[in-house]
Amino acid sequence: MQDLDANDITDAVIEQMASTPDPRMREIMEAAVRHLHAFAREVKLTPDEWLKGIAFLTAVGQACSPIRQEFILLSDVLGLSRLVNVMHDATGREAAGTETSLLGPFFREQAPKIELGGSIAHASKGPEIVVYGQVTDAEGKGVPHATIDVWQTDAEGLYDLQAHDPSVMEMRGQLRCDEQGRFHFRTLKPLGYSIPMDGPVGAMVRRQNRHGFRPAHIHILITAPGFRDLVTALYFADDAHVDSDTVFGVSTSLVIRESLDLPDAPVPGIPSIRYDFTMSRDTSSGGGRVGSDPSRLVPAG
Ligand code: BEZ
Ligand code: FE
Repeated sequence: MQDLDANDITDAVIEQMASTPDPRMREIMEAAVRHLHAFAREVKLTPDEWLKGIAFLTAVGQACSPIRQEFILLSDVLGLSRLVNVMHDATGREAAGTETSLLGPFFREQAPKIELGGSIAHASKGPEIVVYGQVTDAEGKGVPHATIDVWQTDAEGLYDLQAHDPSVMEMRGQLRCDEQGRFHFRTLKPLGYSIPMDGPVGAMVRRQNRHGFRPAHIHILITAPGFRDLVTALYFADDAHVDSDTVFGVSTSLVIRESLDLPDAPVPGIPSIRYDFTMSRDTSSGGGRVGSDPSRLVPAG
């Protein structure tokens, strides 16, 4: 029998869990209990507040469905997804490459294949832009035939799943770089958008007086044998929310601006973006990244 006070309880729980056979699980659960208890002590959590927290997490779970992952959205707006990705990026690769960004919930497998120079806009209308560049390794050597998946909102700020029937794939495509890793494709200038705000995470964001917007961006996933998958995004400098992304996906090195003055632009006369991507050789045995589950597809929020 133990008479546990507000401090002893932490050690008592850790002692009971000490026989966990999986050492990594033991390490994670011990740290989780220590930090959770320290948090409750720091804010002097009351039973009412504890119950509100439980009700919130229950609502987050209830908002999840095969096409909506409210827990990942919660992780995103709390900066946890960014933190986990940044830590992952610093391990298991031989050299730093292009900075990564969140995959987000709108990635879809098997996007329509487009030829080099083709467009990912079919039905959508808006100002056209061209994105071009080269995919290289850390030494600057082109990665031949790297595969690029690209997806984005249309000029109204909607992903295909929000604007069309789910059978329609629009504003997304897959292309293969040439022998030297060079690529170019045509698209429309995307518009920023709000994360899904109709669930408990949106309610929390509103109560925090946050705007809930992501700045306009183009998602990019590049894969090539022997290299770590590069999940990143290019963010438009002229979007009002570029400095206050609600899910913390923006890095300075990923901020771009289209221009009509690029001497090597492959399609003169159309505002263009040149961006060269650097891939890192993968030295680890694997491990995914936050949000890499395609079942995160989220309908219009
Ligand atoms: C997105 O970029 O599509 C996204 C990322 C995180 C949460 C919601 C949307
Ligand atoms: Fe996005």
